[in-house]
Amino acid sequence: MIQHATTEGTTRFKERYRGVVDQGHFRNSNGFWFSSIGFGSYLGNYDDTTDINYQRSLIRAVELGCNVFDTAINYRCQRSERAIGMALSKLIEEGKIQRDEVIVATKGGYIPFDSTPPRDFREYIAKTFIKTGVIKPEDIVGGIHCMAPSYIENQLEQSIKNLRVKCIDIYYLHNPEEQLQEISPKEFKRRMESTFELFEKKVSEGKIKLYGMATWSGYREEPGSKGYLSLEDAVRIAKRVAGDKHNFKVIQLPFNLAMPEAFLFKNQFVKGKWVSPLEAAKDLGITVITSSPLLQGRLSRDLPEFITEYLRGLNTDAQRAIQFARSIPGITTTLVGMSRTEHVEENMQVARLPTIPVDNLLKIFLDE
Ligand SMILES: NC(=O)c1ccc[n+]([C@@H]2O[C@H](COP(=O)([O-])OP(=O)(O)OC[C@H]3O[C@@H](n4cnc5c(N)ncnc54)[C@H](OP(=O)(O)O)[C@@H]3O)[C@@H](O)[C@H]2O)c1
Repeated sequence: MIQHATTEGTTRFKERYRGVVDQGHFRNSNGFWFSSIGFGSYLGNYDDTTDINYQRSLIRAVELGCNVFDTAINYRCQRSERAIGMALSKLIEEGKIQRDEVIVATKGGYIPFDSTPPRDFREYIAKTFIKTGVIKPEDIVGGIHCMAPSYIENQLEQSIKNLRVKCIDIYYLHNPEEQLQEISPKEFKRRMESTFELFEKKVSEGKIKLYGMATWSGYREEPGSKGYLSLEDAVRIAKRVAGDKHNFKVIQLPFNLAMPEAFLFKNQFVKGKWVSPLEAAKDLGITVITSSPLLQGRLSRDLPEFITEYLRGLNTDAQRAIQFARSIPGITTTLVGMSRTEHVEENMQVARLPTIPVDNLLKIFLDE
């Protein structure tokens, strides 16, 4: 049995929803068909109730046409990965999906807790990661972040266990820009290269399919500022490691009505000109997945009327904010955090609608 997402599997998933969702809901990128709305799992309490809610929500999201699941090892002290793993195996066992139909993504970088935060954080890190030789103290940045290959390898293996999979379809380095607060850009590139070497090795071992960088501020910063990331530089590093056949193929960054930089801010220098992160990614063959379409829930209410005017045919502000993000050309999937099934029901209705023409979306910013 195939143990990872494939073109055939994700096509099969898409075909099952023909006539149920809008034909533009599934987007083809780097070999997979991605649903335009993906399942996020960042927020929520560290408790059994939230675990069960996430499991139920994921199952309902799949039933409504979502095949992209996003998590990170540190989300809710590994509980989100484990909840996704439980729901995924249930869906597969019950014959509702096959493994090759869905895209499972996770991230490593932030030092995770195990089920609940420890009472003594320093002691926990020393015991779990330093005394075991997984991390050297000098590799930790800000007390919470590490991208050393030995550590990332350890985290990848743990995520594979938590998610109950044999292979992770997209493995991201989580907010690598954290490192730039403490280390020089030169040292950062050296660290990136070592981590990308590990990722290429893991691709050849069949543990990951594609790898990438999931970011918060890095691709939205002013060039030259401390945490700024250049996509062209990242691709250059991947090429140095593995040539043109490298597997650095995905980036993640936030995009919503209050954070439109991915689309509007020309902060990336690619092939001799300044372009937006979305244009840069297109030029460089990188899939873009965006996060926080609701600004962590805040855009789900009280959107100003001048905005809602351009986002017609929807019933709620959450649906409008999601429709805005999934309508932007170049965004393959917008991830929505949704631990409650009622939110899944509401949000997945948007998948039934065609996207809004880009000229109408641009008017939102001209009108302000
Ligand atoms: N740097 C990174 O790598 C990074 C950063 C941020 C996010 N992400 C990924 O992107 C995903 C999405 O971002 P996010 O979770 O931060 O923010 P988000 O999707 O903008 O918002 C999630 C919040 O909105 C609530 N919500 C969902 N649907 C709603 C609705 N219809 N009405 C009212 N509230 C609603 C959710 O509540 P319930 O949970 O109660 O349903 C949750 O509290 C994350 O879950 C994560 O997987 C990655």
